[in-house]
Amino acid sequence: MHAVAIVAAAGSGSRLGADRPKALVPLAGRPLVCWAVDGLLDGGVAEVVVTVPAAEREAFAAVLPAAVRIVDGGATRTASVRAGLAALSDPAHPAADVVLVHDAARPLTPPDVVARVLAAIAAGAPAVVPVLPVVDTTVLVDDDGAVVDAVPRAPLRRVQTPQGFARDVLERAYAALPEGAELTDDAAVVRASGVRVDTVAGDERSAKVTVPHDLTLAGLAVTVDGTVTR
Ligand code: C5P
Repeated sequence: MHAVAIVAAAGSGSRLGADRPKALVPLAGRPLVCWAVDGLLDGGVAEVVVTVPAAEREAFAAVLPAAVRIVDGGATRTASVRAGLAALSDPAHPAADVVLVHDAARPLTPPDVVARVLAAIAAGAPAVVPVLPVVDTTVLVDDDGAVVDAVPRAPLRRVQTPQGFARDVLERAYAALPEGAELTDDAAVVRASGVRVDTVAGDERSAKVTVPHDLTLAGLAVTVDGTVTR
């Protein structure tokens, strides 16, 4: 198995209110994308491709390990992942048979989660996502914000990344996705192509950094010497 991770890092981070792309915002002195790449490599991924805003290639190259490949992302996450997938066909690099897609916005994903995703694919699953239970009461509201129904939460799950795929499954699914169609994650693209998506246990420490409070919480998970409480 040769597993390559595509890290989607081409977002702007406007909701974080940062003066730079979110993936370059520091957490305990290191950009979010560096934490995310470390977790993937520690979890068993062989190679990492990072999709970045085209105007920021140099800034990313300055902080990422030399072995990490940097490619221009797109205007949407879907376009960025497409660009990362296209880079996998570069004959200068060993051919991947497994692809993980991860958000740079999840800097503290424990390597155990990465290993669980890889193990599920190695065991034959075509697609797998890490998930967590829903702990809050969950409701449906109408257009005015009034509660119209409660949703039984037992079968609900929150989906995280990294999401793992047999490479041919992910490539076929993206090839079949109409140009311009935007789905929020890669498992949705694969499911739209009719492929079963399995689940493994996610981790609260994989939380996504979206608003400033999320960055504060992530900072609390890292001790002063840079050790992650994983
Ligand atoms: O905006 P959001 O936090 O949902 O983005 C999820 C991930 O997708 C982030 O890591 C972000 O950098 C990435 N992204 C991307 N290309 C875009 C938009 C978002 O790679 N055009």
